[in-house]
Amino acid sequence: MPSRNRTPLVTWADHVARWKDCQLCPLGQQRDQIVLARGTVPCDILFCGEAPGESEDALGVPFCGPAGRLLDQIIERALPPTVRYAITNLVACFPRKAKLFGDNEPTPDEIRSCRSRLAEFINIAQPRMIVCVGKLSARWVDHDVGVRCIDIVHPAAILRMPLAQRQMAIQKSIVVLRNAVDNMLESEWTKFTDWSTEYAAS
Ligand code: URA
Repeated sequence: MPSRNRTPLVTWADHVARWKDCQLCPLGQQRDQIVLARGTVPCDILFCGEAPGESEDALGVPFCGPAGRLLDQIIERALPPTVRYAITNLVACFPRKAKLFGDNEPTPDEIRSCRSRLAEFINIAQPRMIVCVGKLSARWVDHDVGVRCIDIVHPAAILRMPLAQRQMAIQKSIVVLRNAVDNMLESEWTKFTDWSTEYAAS
């Protein structure tokens, strides 16, 4: 039986030391704080969002603004308390310039630049399931490499919906997540396969 306690080759402390001053792409000059991850590692579920926003840039913590509060509510209502999870993003820095031009999205090159950081974190987290939060994450994270993978609507997109649709979208995310977690818990534990860099963003 593979052990859940296999020691990752890289520790969280090594990860922070390696990436805290990252300047691999232009976003390094745009951020106030690098936003690596929050939660527990190793974990059962890894949530992967898109890019930090202003609140995350100010605090250095992923999903700590309004979208994060909604994501936390969805997680709390969908996951049994014993299920461990962590949260990260496709890129670790706030795309400040993209935001100025009315778009919050990192470019494909910025996402590719950050893929070794993301792959390293996935290997530290060793999740049984990855939940892609939002369309961009769903597009860039490889869904077919051994770790089960599902997509949920980005909570920021839910917050932009008219009030009448919002509750329905929240409920749908909870149901999608809860069903996937139930399936994961019912299925046999399989050994985590190391993530290669290309899987993180290809
Ligand atoms: N949106 C994301 O995709 N990630 C965050 O960390 C915050 C908002």
